[in-house]
Amino acid sequence: MAAAAAAFTSFQLWLVSCLALVSMARAQDPDQFIYTNGFRRANLHLDGSAEIRSNGLLRLTNSSVLQIGHAFYPSPINFNHSSSSSSSSVPSLSFSTNFVIAIVPGPEEAYGHGVAFVIAESTDFSHAAAIQYLGLVNETTNGNSSNQFFAVEFDTVNSIDMGDIDENHVGIDLNGVKSNKQVTAEYFSNEEGKNISLDLKSGHPIQVWIDYDGQQQLLNVTLAPENSPKPNRPLLSTSIDLSDILMDTMYLGFSATTGSRQGTSSSHYILGWSFNRSGEAQSLDLSQLPKLPKNGGGRNTVRLISIIAAVALLLIIIGTAYVYRRKKYEEVHEDWEKEYGPHRFSYRTLYIATKGFKDKQLLGFGGFGKVYKGTLPYTNEQIAVKKVSHESNQGMKEFVSEIVSMGRLRHKNLVRLLGYCRRQKELLLIYELMENGSLDKFLFSVDKPTLNWFQRFQIIKGVASALLYLHEEGEQVVLHRDIKASNVLLDSELNGRLGDFGLARLYDRNGDPQTTRLVGTLGYIDPELTRIGRATKASDVFSFGAFLLEVACGRKPFDPNKPPEEIFLVDVVNRSFKRDAIVECSDPRLQGNYVVEEMERVLKLGLLCSNTKSDLRPTIKQVVQFLEGSASLPDIPLDIRPQNMPSSILETLPQSTEINVSTANNLASDSVISFSSSGRKGLSLNSLSSTDSVLHIGR
Ligand SMILES: *[C@@H]1O[C@H](CO)[C@@H](O)[C@H](O)[C@H]1NC(C)=O
Ligand SMILES: *[C@@H]1O[C@H](CO)[C@@H](O)[C@H](O)[C@H]1NC(C)=O
Ligand SMILES: *[C@@H]1O[C@H](CO)[C@@H](O)[C@H](O)[C@H]1NC(C)=O
Ligand SMILES: *[C@@H]1O[C@H](CO)[C@@H](O)[C@H](O)[C@H]1NC(C)=O
Ligand SMILES: *[C@@H]1O[C@H](CO)[C@@H](O)[C@H](O)[C@H]1NC(C)=O
Ligand SMILES: *[C@@H]1O[C@H](CO)[C@@H](O)[C@H](O)[C@H]1NC(C)=O
Ligand SMILES: *[C@@H]1O[C@H](CO)[C@@H](O)[C@H](O)[C@H]1NC(C)=O
Repeated sequence: MAAAAAAFTSFQLWLVSCLALVSMARAQDPDQFIYTNGFRRANLHLDGSAEIRSNGLLRLTNSSVLQIGHAFYPSPINFNHSSSSSSSSVPSLSFSTNFVIAIVPGPEEAYGHGVAFVIAESTDFSHAAAIQYLGLVNETTNGNSSNQFFAVEFDTVNSIDMGDIDENHVGIDLNGVKSNKQVTAEYFSNEEGKNISLDLKSGHPIQVWIDYDGQQQLLNVTLAPENSPKPNRPLLSTSIDLSDILMDTMYLGFSATTGSRQGTSSSHYILGWSFNRSGEAQSLDLSQLPKLPKNGGGRNTVRLISIIAAVALLLIIIGTAYVYRRKKYEEVHEDWEKEYGPHRFSYRTLYIATKGFKDKQLLGFGGFGKVYKGTLPYTNEQIAVKKVSHESNQGMKEFVSEIVSMGRLRHKNLVRLLGYCRRQKELLLIYELMENGSLDKFLFSVDKPTLNWFQRFQIIKGVASALLYLHEEGEQVVLHRDIKASNVLLDSELNGRLGDFGLARLYDRNGDPQTTRLVGTLGYIDPELTRIGRATKASDVFSFGAFLLEVACGRKPFDPNKPPEEIFLVDVVNRSFKRDAIVECSDPRLQGNYVVEEMERVLKLGLLCSNTKSDLRPTIKQVVQFLEGSASLPDIPLDIRPQNMPSSILETLPQSTEINVSTANNLASDSVISFSSSGRKGLSLNSLSSTDSVLHIGR
């Protein structure tokens, strides 16, 4: 058996060499090179623990303690004269490099110390120390200018004596490992237009670009996870003069070390590398690079036996745990969902992200269910997870396909939907996290600062443009169906972003197909809904009108605690308008600090949108024009709520429906309600509030 294994190994070696010949790096040209397929036959200058694995992976250290590994490109690079080839225009010190590193934690999630890209006068680092010295210097030589090296370190330990900022940073090192400049690892996502944190020691490949412009003396370092293109903005852009360091002949390579104690060591890998003195280094194709090992690798036989015993024991434990776990992470998958794969999150990921849906992570109770805050593993992306309970699977297919297509909607004033997950009687929706929570908290909660008029007006205009996008500018018309302050979220810069779009639709379909269900929140629901029987653009505009009044007046559109004539905010504003004193309704907390003309415009527009007759309301396009002041408001009919028309959806309920104060109170607390109408049974009203209580009013 041993012989067979040996034969197999030598066959493998032969095969590997053949492949290596085919994919050998272009190493002839001294001012540029590229390793697109690992480092087999690369002839790198290696020392210490550095080695090339059989698949071409360069491993600088394994996860044992006190390892030091170096790998250098075999021939020196000339940094003083312009390259002999065509480009005399290229300043002599400029260079560009792209490489892929991976820092794989050792047993028990141990990690340390880090890896560095180095340009040095010599390849002799025999006196350099491990641990925080990164194999570049030792205690006495640290920082000495005779060291003659430049390095970019990827450091996973916070070494106080080196002035490190944290245990996940990138630093610029000149002749020593006390960095001249350091920043926490993150990358700029071109797609999302923001910085996203990056965990160096995640064990996953990380792409690095280092670009130095010798003429401008500007150094850029850019990071990105695998599967991301080069970010448009570097992580670090700093002016630095390398002319004292980059001599006629310099060696290029990598250095890595592990720590001195158990628990401070990871394996450090380089997967691919390109370098260029006469232009931008070619980016590497990650799919071509050698794969990282699934686990640590190499173990001796004595350990092997104990490991087998341990594994057997583990299997028994896992077996029992499995049954429990399966239940815990159980999801519902159906065939039709396959095409939505990329948009589907596993329940396990969400469970980890939200720390097991702990109450501590609870952001609030939305109209349709609880919302939790979470952090996705690996990317550290911040998310909000909404748990929506649903009774039946009916309509789920259409709903999921709608959700996925909504995930493609992109507008700066819409909260982005990242994906979904399904479990028994539960749908989970994953959104990007909005730092400042919902707008209603700022309007009504005493422990939040009052928004000034400028901020409110910006938010209003933002939400209007999001609604314009949903109604008119996307590939298909999307109705929101539940516009209100608690569905407007504020990002870190207090921009208003509309959330929960289209969610109400889930409830339209939920249940008896014979009945029509209409969903919304009292005070925002178009009274014409029951007549028309379905949501329309005009019903969204009605809700938007209620929202305008809500933001300007700092009061809920429907408040059953008020005297009867003030229950509906729109009545209050309408009366002030008739008295020609409309701004009297403005939020007292603004203390009169607002642009009168803008306040008047917002309140009047609110009235226009609240017209009981849907065909007399403006379109969202006109709303945006009015808000921007590019069109002037038309005259408002004196009676936006004629006596013979129902002014609230409540009035469309059958005569026998009784709403007493306590039910009305329940309804006012922002609960989403649904109306079912089926010819015979008449109309009934259900509360879908977070408490899950279904409230039946009337018979
Ligand atoms: C790491 O490599 C060294 C030799 O460089 C070896 O002695 C040690 O056993 C290896 N450790 C692991 C965990 O493979
Ligand atoms: C540090 O390195 C220098 C040479 O680079 C060597 O002479 C010295 O002995 C080393 N010091 C220690 C503490 O290893
Ligand atoms: C720097 O190193 C050189 C040569 O190794 C040595 O002569 C000099 O004293 C060192 N300088 C400092 C400040 O340690
Ligand atoms: C992203 O990070 C860079 C570098 O730290 C910083 O200059 C920039 O302002 C950040 N951009 C955003 C949108 O946060
Ligand atoms: C470095 O980044 C800055 C800012 O993004 C950019 O203007 C400059 O062109 C970059 N320089 C190089 C050499 O990549
Ligand atoms: C470049 O080379 C010239 C002569 O070959 C020398 O005088 C100059 O100091 C060198 N510049 C640097 C930055 O090494
Ligand atoms: C170096 O830059 C030149 C000019 O942009 C380009 O043609 C060449 O492919 C680059 N080589 C590498 C290895 O990046």
